[in-house]
Amino acid sequence: MKEDLERIRTEALAALDTYDSEADVEQLRVRLLGRKGELTSLVRRLREVEPNERPTVGAHLNQIKDELEQRISQALDALRRGERERRVAAERIDVTQPGSHRIPGHLHPLTQTMEDIVDTFVGMGFEVADGPDIEDEYHNFTALNIPRDHPARDMQDTFFVTDEHVLRTHTSPVQIRVMESRRPPLRVVVPGAAYRIDSDNTHSPMFHQVEGFMVDERVTFGDLKGVLSEAMQRLFGRDTRVRFRASYFPFTEPSAEVDIGCVLCAGCDQQCRMCKGSGWLEILGAGLIDPNVFEAVGYDPEAVSGFAFGMGLERITMLRYQINDIRLFYANDVRFLRQF
Ligand code: DAH
Repeated sequence: MKEDLERIRTEALAALDTYDSEADVEQLRVRLLGRKGELTSLVRRLREVEPNERPTVGAHLNQIKDELEQRISQALDALRRGERERRVAAERIDVTQPGSHRIPGHLHPLTQTMEDIVDTFVGMGFEVADGPDIEDEYHNFTALNIPRDHPARDMQDTFFVTDEHVLRTHTSPVQIRVMESRRPPLRVVVPGAAYRIDSDNTHSPMFHQVEGFMVDERVTFGDLKGVLSEAMQRLFGRDTRVRFRASYFPFTEPSAEVDIGCVLCAGCDQQCRMCKGSGWLEILGAGLIDPNVFEAVGYDPEAVSGFAFGMGLERITMLRYQINDIRLFYANDVRFLRQF
């Protein structure tokens, strides 16, 4: 009995040293101290011991039972504590660490400007239309009163796709397409791409324009001035000055170029790099729609009148944000794009 006890004790202590899971220790506890456990059955076998030795053996047995119970619960405690520490370490959050932030995307500066311009005119009762990027010569030139020998048709400037088709050199052909298919009254804006063989820091072979026009009975140059002045002030600020200069376009008569007061120096800096000291920035072309254009679309120029305008999106965006190279818009360099 004594030997049994010592063996059980040594084996149990050795086992406890190697166990590293609660389940193993728990199993050991059942094996020793459970109802059919080795120690429990030794207690039952006390009866077989000589009565005079029983107290000593019994005391010894109890002592070892207590010892093992204690060692087992210590082992369980240690394992549970270790497990907790591991979990706490794994879930530990360093509140002093800088947060990882995601930079959200946003609209391209050209898209932002385009939407601002379109919204401005939509807010003034205009609707939005579009047309094809590949145009026939008739819509891009002829119907817009640009004759065959006009320099605007020069192969130097125009991308020809076939003998009769071009990449549209402006958004003005959409005026023709809308008027061909509908009757006045019309108030329409047309944002879109245009293409010309031209490339430097202010010209790109593909660029964007916003075209606009209004046709009704008795539309006057006063309407043109009123609508464009209001639109420019909504876009560039209430105290923006607007100036109309006489000019020439084949599809308008009379024609005008529209300037706004310099957004950088407001006319106060003789050396201003934006307006070159003039105090004015050219912002769009406009005019009253030429009777020849109305005739091309089957309108009676005696019965209706209208105005039209067209502006370059890149140029306006460059003025707005003081960007000095048009190519930055298309390079997709995030260091540039993130600034907007
Ligand atoms: N189409 C012209 C261009 O590309 C811009 C323009 C000027 C459009 C006058 C118009 C206009 O509708 O009336 O330079």
